[in-house]
Amino acid sequence: PVMDAADIVVFGGTGDLAMRKLLPALYLRDRDDQLAEGTRIVAVSRSGLGDDGYRDKVDSELRRTAPRWAGPDACADDDVHSRFLRRLHHVTLDVADDDWSELSGLLGPADEDGARIRVLYLASAPQLFGRICVGSAQAGIVDDRTRVVLEKPLGHDLSSAREINDEVGSVFAEEQIYRIDHYLGKETVQNLLVLRFGNSLFEPLWNAGQIDHVQITVAESIGVGNRADYYDDSGALRDMVQNHLLQLLCLVAMEPPARIDGEGVRDEKLKVLRSLTPLEGPGVVRDTVRGRYTEGLVDGTAVPGYTTELAESRAGTPREQEPSNTETFVALRAEVANWRWAGVPFYLRTGKRLARHASEIVVQFKPVPHSIFPAFGEELPANRLVLRLQPDEGVRLHMTAKEPGPGGIRPIPAPLDLSFARTFGDRLPDAYERLLMDVLRGNPTLFMRRDEIEAAWRWVEPIMRTWADTDQQPRPYAAGSDGPAAAATLIERDGRTWGS
Ligand code: BG6
Repeated sequence: PVMDAADIVVFGGTGDLAMRKLLPALYLRDRDDQLAEGTRIVAVSRSGLGDDGYRDKVDSELRRTAPRWAGPDACADDDVHSRFLRRLHHVTLDVADDDWSELSGLLGPADEDGARIRVLYLASAPQLFGRICVGSAQAGIVDDRTRVVLEKPLGHDLSSAREINDEVGSVFAEEQIYRIDHYLGKETVQNLLVLRFGNSLFEPLWNAGQIDHVQITVAESIGVGNRADYYDDSGALRDMVQNHLLQLLCLVAMEPPARIDGEGVRDEKLKVLRSLTPLEGPGVVRDTVRGRYTEGLVDGTAVPGYTTELAESRAGTPREQEPSNTETFVALRAEVANWRWAGVPFYLRTGKRLARHASEIVVQFKPVPHSIFPAFGEELPANRLVLRLQPDEGVRLHMTAKEPGPGGIRPIPAPLDLSFARTFGDRLPDAYERLLMDVLRGNPTLFMRRDEIEAAWRWVEPIMRTWADTDQQPRPYAAGSDGPAAAATLIERDGRTWGS
C-alpha cells in the first residue's frame, strides 16, 4: 500500500480511457485497501457535471461493467463501493480558459500540501498536454514533487514528440514525468525480466551464438470500429510498433541492468533502440509489409472492411471524401547491430482483425549441431521459448523428449508449460493497476523516458517516409486471416516461419 494520501487529478476524466481503464484500476486497488485514507480522485472535464453527477455516472458505469473485470460479486460490498464513490470529485474546466480557480481551490496550493502526493493524469488529447501543464503551473497547483502522467500518442513523428516533451519539460523535471506504455504493465512483460535475470539458465544462451531469431507478434481480432477517424491519422506503425512492440524488443534484447530501477533499466533499453539498424530506402521496401483488412469472417461473424468503417465514422463530416492510405497491419524485419545480436533477425508483426487475439514473443534457438537419432533424420526440432502475453499469460519451452515405448529411440517435441493463472491462481492485475500504483510509489522503472521515445521515433520515421516516397499502398488482407501473404514471405524468404 501507499501510505500517503494522494490527489489524483484526471484531465479527460469523463473520457473513454478514464472510464474503461483508470477508474476500474483505481477501484480494484481501493478494494484491496491500497489507496491511503483521504485519497481523492479529481476528474476534470468540460462536461458541467458536479461531484454528485460524476459519482452517479461512475456508479452506473461500475455496476454495468464491473462484473466483467472484477468478478460476479463486484460492487456487492457496499462499504467498498461507497468509499470509492466518496473519493470522486469533478471540476468543470475548459483548459484553454484562464480561470482555474475551482480546481486550484479544491486542491489547495501544492507547496502547502505536506506529505500528500499530487498526480496530474493527462488522459486527454495530446495537443492539450502543453496547455494543461502550463495552466497547472499558472494556477499554482504544481510544485517540484508533483507527478505528471502522460498517455500516448506522444506525437506522430520525432518533431511533434519533441514539441510535447519540450512543453511538458518547461514545467516538470524529467523525474516528475511518467510516460505510460501500458504494455510494460502487463504481467508477462515484467516476467520477461524475471525469466531472463532471475534464472541462470537462459542468459548464457541469450545471444547470437545460440539464438536463431526472435519473433514478436501482437495480433488483435478487433477492428478499429468507431475509433476509425482517430486511427486513420495513426496506423499500425505509429499506434503499436513505435511504442509497444519496440518496448518488447528492448526487453528481450537489452543487456542485464545492474539494478532494477528507473535509470538502470531505461539506460539499457535506450542502448538497444540506438543499436537498431536503420531501415531506410530499399531496406524499407524489402523488410517491411503494410496491410489493411477488407471484409471477412472473425470467429464466424461477418465484419466490414476498414474503409467501410472509416467511411461510416466520417459520414457527414468535412473529412468524408478524404482518401486514406492507412495500414492496419505491419510486419517487419529488424536487426540489433551489436555484439550480442549481430546477424539475429527480429521479426515483428501486429495487426487488427486477425484470426485470433494472441500476443507472444518467440525466441527460437538454433538446432542441435548434429543429430544422433537417425529415425528423426535432420528434422530434430530446435528449442523454442514462447512468452504468451495474452490470452492465458504464461511461458512455454518447447523441448525434445523421447516418445514413450519399447521400440527404438524416437525423439518427439514436448512442451514445458507454465500458465500463470493455473500456477498462481490469483486474478492477474490489469496493466493500469500496476502502473498507477507505481506512479503513487514514485517508481519510474516501467515508464518511458524522453530519450527512449525520441530514439524510437528516430528509427520509425524513415520507414514512414519511405512508404510515402515510394507510394507503398497497404496490401489487402481478409478480416479473420493471418494478414497479407507478403508477411509470410518476409520470414519464409529467410527459411523460417511465423508461429509458436
Ligand atoms: C493501444 C492501441 O495502445 O493498445 C490500440 O492504441 C490497441 O489500438 C491497444 O488496441 C492494445 O492493447 P491490449 O492491451 O488490448 O493488447
